[in-house]
Amino acid sequence: MAESAELYRPGLEGIVAGETSVSTVLQDSLAYRGYTIEDLAEHASFEETAYLLLRGELPSASQLAAFRSELDRHRPLNPHVLEVLRRIPAETPGMDVLRTTLSMAAHFDPYRGNDLDALVGRATYALAVVPGIIAARMRLLAGQPLIEPKPGLSHAAQFLYQAFGQMPTAMNEKILNLTFVLYAEHEFNASTFACRVTTSTLSDMYSALVTGIGTLKGPLHGGANEESIKAINQYKSAAEAQAATETQVGGGKLIMGFGHRVYKNGDHRARILEKYVEPLGRERNDMNRVEIYHAIKNVVWERKKIHMNVDYPCGLVYFFMGLPLDVYTPLFVASRISGWAAHAIEQFTNNRLIRPRSRYVGPEIRPYRPVGER
Ligand code: ACO
Repeated sequence: MAESAELYRPGLEGIVAGETSVSTVLQDSLAYRGYTIEDLAEHASFEETAYLLLRGELPSASQLAAFRSELDRHRPLNPHVLEVLRRIPAETPGMDVLRTTLSMAAHFDPYRGNDLDALVGRATYALAVVPGIIAARMRLLAGQPLIEPKPGLSHAAQFLYQAFGQMPTAMNEKILNLTFVLYAEHEFNASTFACRVTTSTLSDMYSALVTGIGTLKGPLHGGANEESIKAINQYKSAAEAQAATETQVGGGKLIMGFGHRVYKNGDHRARILEKYVEPLGRERNDMNRVEIYHAIKNVVWERKKIHMNVDYPCGLVYFFMGLPLDVYTPLFVASRISGWAAHAIEQFTNNRLIRPRSRYVGPEIRPYRPVGER
């Protein structure tokens, strides 16, 4: 007991809670299975990245083609999943919709057994259905007819095609692919750790993924991409944003999209994605919003010396791509399933139940008194 108490750190800060070969968060980069995020962001498709995370190596051309066709095979949504989607009340948050409908889709998983191919197959199935669920929900809410998937498109293009009903621009496809690569994996963050805890009881892959969705939803984690654009959109000018952010920071308010438990010199994913903020702002003829974006960022840096995280530029980038706010965190899920599943597989194939101790701070032992005496 004394030993557990000595190791106690609120929020497990700085605690090494397990070993992984999936990724590592470095102060000067982030690496998935030994490849830096800069390298992958520059060269890799999301499909290659997901394959790398799930199988441990980048795919050959034929392995990649097979993975892509497996994704295409699973994309059409089961009619029962569509029926559930139609019945969920319109005001339900997108992450709640995804939690319920991924659970529903799991019942139609064609894979059996728990060997590596079955586990990767299950992850592939989840990767394939989630973008279709997000796009279908988006169109149902807009009162638009649903779009069937078009085999052969990239993962990013497929989502955009099903969401908007037309082929995406090369720029939008490239940027969505980039956000998918950047969001795919991040070591023992809160949602991944939660997935590993679920898996460590020898529960199933979908229970782990649904655990991940519930954990990612919170605004201190993935939900920050939606919160950051809400903050940007409430201001009419950079001057207004600057003044309001000064007041908020002075009052100790958290500014969403800033700060990180591990990165203290800044989040590399944010810097990579930020390069697209200005080109998109110019393309959308909306440089005012870009100025507001920079004004908030500058205040947080000057007053608190806190860097942005990946969710800050992502909120604005998705906004410029014309995506409705409610799909931003679900799109994070569409990508992060690859990392969650890779960790679930790693945990499952070399398992030890995750069961830490707590420090007890409750009452001393005391006698039970019958209800009439209380
Ligand atoms: N805005 C204002 N102040 C902040 C912020 C912020 N976004 N983040 C940290 N701080 C302050 C804290 O208030 C604290 O100040 P204090 O020492 O005066 O009390 C100090 O910086 C240290 O921060 P901690 O709370 O110790 O940092 P922690 O590691 O616990 O939290 C977290 C990390 C949760 C990400 C935090 O920075 C935060 O809440 N950020 C906003 C939400 C967000 O953007 N989440 C997305 C993270 S990235 C991702 O999940 C993909």
